[in-house]
Amino acid sequence: MKIEALHKFHDADFSKEWVEKFEPTPPRIKLFETILKQIEKVGRKKTSILELGIGPGFLADYLLKELNTVTYEGLDFSESMLKIAAKRTAKHEKIIKFTQADLINEVWTEKLKKSPDVVVSTWALHDLFNKNNIFNVYKSAHKILPKDGVFLNGDFIKPEESNHEYEGGRIRPSEHIKLLQEAGFKSVKCLEEFEKDVENPTTANNYACFKAKK
Ligand SMILES: C[S@@+](CC[C@H](N)C(=O)[O-])C[C@H]1O[C@@H](n2cnc3c(N)ncnc32)[C@H](O)[C@@H]1O
Repeated sequence: MKIEALHKFHDADFSKEWVEKFEPTPPRIKLFETILKQIEKVGRKKTSILELGIGPGFLADYLLKELNTVTYEGLDFSESMLKIAAKRTAKHEKIIKFTQADLINEVWTEKLKKSPDVVVSTWALHDLFNKNNIFNVYKSAHKILPKDGVFLNGDFIKPEESNHEYEGGRIRPSEHIKLLQEAGFKSVKCLEEFEKDVENPTTANNYACFKAKK
């Protein structure tokens, strides 16, 4: 059985139903905590954060409740997801902006409203179908970040030791590390793996957080 989740994020009814099932569980919140700690370490006065694939805005809402001196830009190609994210983060409307763009089929960096100091993403880039599309996003993120800028990607992976068949965007931690290095990042590591289950993989377990510094 292939570990694969096919989504219809452009369909408003699908998005609404999917979001109801995606409510973050305690282990998923641990990924948010990991990302938060790393952003706090950046130590800029006003950190500009860009999220790739903001989806329903769970990560954005979590971060914005904890960080009050940041600006936030949430990018997604789905209009319905952007609407859900805007509703969830309405309390932070003064510091959050939304950008509709496709991470595969357009030069999304040209649509950004602000240059980021930190780029974050959770459970989104595996949806880009294959390694090459993920690599292109890594290269673009490297291009737009300043020196010492940080990229934090928490995403579903294929565990290193797994022999199961996974969809093309779920790649091994070593492959993420190699792609980030080839994209030009100088300091790259896998910070942590979450809900790891090599023998019994599902579409919802096995994810990891990668940190890359320019
Ligand atoms: C699982 S959701 C992200 C969840 C989000 N990080 C959160 O914490 O709520 C993945 C998102 O990636 C978006 N996405 C998938 N492929 C995309 C693409 N090619 N360009 C832009 N966004 C994309 C989807 O529309 C979806 O909203």
